[in-house]
Amino acid sequence: MDQVAVPVSVDQSTHAITLTINKIPYELHVRPWVTLLDAIREYVGLTGTKKGCDHGQCGACTVLVNGKRINACLTLAVMKNGAEITTIEGVAESGVLHPLQQAFIDQDAFQCGYCTPGQICSAIGMISEGRAKTREDIQELMSGNLCRCGAYPNIVAAVQQVNQTL
Ligand code: FES
Ligand code: FES
Repeated sequence: MDQVAVPVSVDQSTHAITLTINKIPYELHVRPWVTLLDAIREYVGLTGTKKGCDHGQCGACTVLVNGKRINACLTLAVMKNGAEITTIEGVAESGVLHPLQQAFIDQDAFQCGYCTPGQICSAIGMISEGRAKTREDIQELMSGNLCRCGAYPNIVAAVQQVNQTL
């Protein structure tokens, strides 16, 4: 696929990086202090990934980098040059919801939905880690993803729905 060049003003303090986001390569020119979260939201325009605290405390910004879940607000875009990134916009395949997206609907696992993209990306990463066997494991391993609406029982039920099928 052709690389997408995102137009920004280029000056000596910017760095040229390539991020492949949801299978599309983007060439970005970012200053060294731009977080991966801001690169995704402000430069590429994918606003599904949310900014809650911007300090690593809420998990709303969780994305998958080379298959591993991370808080995008805690890493710099330049540090991920060349990485493969998946955001909530990229988890469905060919118009079919990811099983976790469907499970969140089935289990009524969101209210305002602000935490949901991070919850789903975190759950995808956690399930691929293969360590979540019980309800308590899920609660512990998802504890970095806060939900101010308190939808935790339904979120855990949604994750269990998918975890049990794998
Ligand atoms: S916005 Fe990144 S952890 Fe809260
Ligand atoms: S559904 Fe509102 S913060 Fe989680």
